[in-house]
Amino acid sequence: MVEDLSGDSSKGDTNSEAIAGEIAELQRQIAYHDDRYFRLDDPVISDAEYDELTRRLSALLSDHPSLATSAQIEAVGAAPSELFAPVRHRVAMMSLDKAFSYEELAAWRERLSRLLDEDPASVRFVCEPKIDGLAVSVTYREGAFSEASTRGDGITGEDVTANVQTLCGRSLPKRLTLGKEETPALLEVRGEIYMPISAFEALNRRQGEAREKLFANPRNSAAGSLRQKDPTITASRELRFWSYQVGELIQAKVKASLLRLPTQEDLPFSCHSESLKFLLAAGLPVNPEIKVVTGLEEAFEYCKYWESHRHDLDYEIDGVVLKVDELSLQRRLGATSHAPRWAIAYKLPPEERTTKLVAITVSIGRTGKATPLAELEPVHIAGSTVRFATLHNEDQVALKDVRVGDTVVVRKAGDVIPEIVRPVLELRPKDSEPWRFPTNCPSCGEPLMRLEGESDTYCTNVNCPAQRVQRIVHFASRPAMDIEGLGEQRVSQLVAAGLVANITDLYSLEKLPGKLAAMERLGELSVSNLLKSIEASKDRPLHRLLVALGIPHVGVTGALLLARAFGSLDRLMKASTEELAALDGVGPKIASGVVEFFSLPSNKQVLSRLIEAGVRTEESSASAGPGSGVAGGLALGLDGSQSLAVGDPIVAAGEPVPQILKGRSVVVTGTLAGLTRQQAEAAILARGGKSPGSVSKRTFALVVGSEPGSTKVAKAEELGVPTTDEAGFMTLLKTGELP
Ligand code: IVH
Repeated sequence: MVEDLSGDSSKGDTNSEAIAGEIAELQRQIAYHDDRYFRLDDPVISDAEYDELTRRLSALLSDHPSLATSAQIEAVGAAPSELFAPVRHRVAMMSLDKAFSYEELAAWRERLSRLLDEDPASVRFVCEPKIDGLAVSVTYREGAFSEASTRGDGITGEDVTANVQTLCGRSLPKRLTLGKEETPALLEVRGEIYMPISAFEALNRRQGEAREKLFANPRNSAAGSLRQKDPTITASRELRFWSYQVGELIQAKVKASLLRLPTQEDLPFSCHSESLKFLLAAGLPVNPEIKVVTGLEEAFEYCKYWESHRHDLDYEIDGVVLKVDELSLQRRLGATSHAPRWAIAYKLPPEERTTKLVAITVSIGRTGKATPLAELEPVHIAGSTVRFATLHNEDQVALKDVRVGDTVVVRKAGDVIPEIVRPVLELRPKDSEPWRFPTNCPSCGEPLMRLEGESDTYCTNVNCPAQRVQRIVHFASRPAMDIEGLGEQRVSQLVAAGLVANITDLYSLEKLPGKLAAMERLGELSVSNLLKSIEASKDRPLHRLLVALGIPHVGVTGALLLARAFGSLDRLMKASTEELAALDGVGPKIASGVVEFFSLPSNKQVLSRLIEAGVRTEESSASAGPGSGVAGGLALGLDGSQSLAVGDPIVAAGEPVPQILKGRSVVVTGTLAGLTRQQAEAAILARGGKSPGSVSKRTFALVVGSEPGSTKVAKAEELGVPTTDEAGFMTLLKTGELP
C-alpha cells in the first residue's frame, strides 16, 4: 500500500467512485501502452503522452491513497510474451518516479529531507544518464555468465539468456575480471541494453535495401534485435550494455539468498558509487558520464547540462537518474510498491534539433487550399525521423522568415507533430532570398487566389488533379468511409492509371478487373483486399457519409447532429434552411451550406450514383448498435456510452476513450497544427463532450488555433469563458482539465 503522507482527501468523498474509476481507466490505458512498448516493441503514443498518463495516475494516487491498492500499482511494464520462458526476478525490478521540472526535483528533495531528517544540502547524489533502451538483468555465477532476463512487469521477465549471451565477449564479459577471492558466488547486475544511434542508422539502411520493415528508433531496434526467437539475429546486431545497479550479490563466503533489495548490510559497499566502481572492476561496462555530486543544486546542473548535450552521445537518453549515494540512507528511505524513494528520473524536455530546409513545396488540399510544406534534410527527433513540417500559410512563412537553404530549429509540438521553431540566422547563406508564395497551382497550373482579409490561398479549379486525389483520400479517410489501404499514394496511383477520377468511381472499380490485375502485377495493389475494404465501406452509418462528402462547414460534430436528427439522407435532403437552423448546434452557416450543397445538380448526381452502388443512407441499421464504432463507426458513444477510439490523437485505436468531457462544451476556432477541425471535434465528442459552433456562457473552454475567428474570441472574453491554445487542448483531451 502507498503510505498516506499527504492526508487522504478521498475518504468519505462522494467523488471517490468517479476517481477510482479514473484510476482504473488510467491503469488500463497504461497497461495497454506498456504492453505495446515492452512486449510488442510497437508503441502507439509518444513518451511524452505516456508520461502524461502516468503523471495523472500518480497525482490521483497520491491525492487519494486509500483508492490505491497494491495490486493496482505493483506491476509496471509488460507481462512476458509467449516467445520466451517467464522468469520471476528474485529481487523485483522496480521502476522510477519521474520529475519534469526543477520544482518537481525540489519537491522530491523536500520529501527526502522530511523522511531522513537530514540537511538536504549535504546529501550526495549519483547522477546517471537515463539510457533509452531496455532494462535487463544479467547474472554471473562463480564469475561466469549464466542467465539474463528482461524486466517484464518488474516481477516476472522473459528468459533471454541465449540472446544476451551473444553480447558476451563483445559488450559484456564472458567472465568477470576479478581475482578468485573477490569473485562473488552470484552477481546479478542490472542495466540497459541499447543500440548506438550510428548502428541504428546503419541497420535501417540495410533494412531499407532489403525492403524489410524499418525500425522507428534506436530503442525499438534494440528491443526488436534482442527479443528474437533466433539468437543468431541478435548476434548480427550491434547491441551494447550499460550497467547501472547491483541487483543481487552473494559473496563466496556468504551463501545466503536475498529476497529483498540489497542493503548496506548485505553488500560489501557503503554507497552506490562504490558498487559502480566494483562493476567496472569486474569488467562490466559502466557509463563514464556518471557523476557524484553533493546537494540538489549540483544535481540539477547535471540535468541542465544534458538538456543541451544529449546529442553529443551516440546513444539516446531520455533523462537523468538521480540516486541517493549512501546505501544507509537508501535503506531508511525504502520504496513504495513500484519505485524506490531514493531515486528519481528527471525527464528531459522535448528535443529540438537543427537541420537544413531543403525546399518549400505547396500542397493542394481537397478544398483547393494551398499549404506550404517545409522539406527537411532528415533529422532524428524524439524517436523518429522527421522529413517534413507544415508551414501553415503564407503569413506564417513570412512571420518566421524561413528560407530555402536555411538551417532551421525543428521540434515536435506536444512531442508529436514536427514544427519549425525558427531559422538560425547566423548560418543563413548570404545569397538567400525570402520565400515567395507561388502564383499558380503546382498541380493544374491555374492561378492561385487569396481573398482580402483571409490568410489562406486557394486553387479554385474544381478539376485540379491534386484536389481530385485529396477529395477521394478524404472520402476514404478514417472518420469518413474508412476504406483501409486507400491513402494518398494509392489514390494517386489509381488516378494516374485512369482508374478513378472521383469518389463514385471507387464503387465501380471491381468492373475493371483487367486494369486492376495489371496494377497488381506491378506490385502496386492488392486488389482483393482493396475491393473488400471498398465493399465494407458501403455499410457505414449516415454521419460518416456526410463527413465523407465534405459538405462546407459540416465536420464530425455537425454530421452527427444532422444524422441523428434526420435519420436518413432522404429526410435530410428535404429539410429547409429553417428546419436545419432550428437544431441545437446547427447555426445558419451550416444550415445554408447543407441546403446549397444538396441543391447542386452535380452533387445530386454523385449521391444518386452512390445510392445506386449500394451505399447506406440511414444512420442506424439492424447491425449497428452502440459500440459498433470500433469496426466501422466513429470514435463516439452515440448513446453516451463508453466509446472506443478510432483515429484519436491520444487514445490508441480500439481502446476505450475516457469520458472526461462529459457534459462539457468545448468550442474550437482557427487552425490547429496537429489536428484537423474534424479530428479535434471527434476527439471532444469521443470524450462525451460537445463541440458547438459558437461560444455561450455554458462553454467550458474555447480552443484558439492560428487565425481564429474574432467573434468567438471576443465572445469568450466577454463571457469570461477560458481560452486555451493547442497544447492546452491536448492537456484537456488527456486529463479533462485545462492546464
Ligand atoms: S535505475 C531501482 N538507472 O529507467 C532503480 N534505470 O524508469 C531502477 N534506466 O526500467 C532503475 N537508465 O530501464 C536506472 N541509469 C539508470 C537508467 C535506468 C535507464 C531505465 C531502466 C528502468 C527505467 C525506470
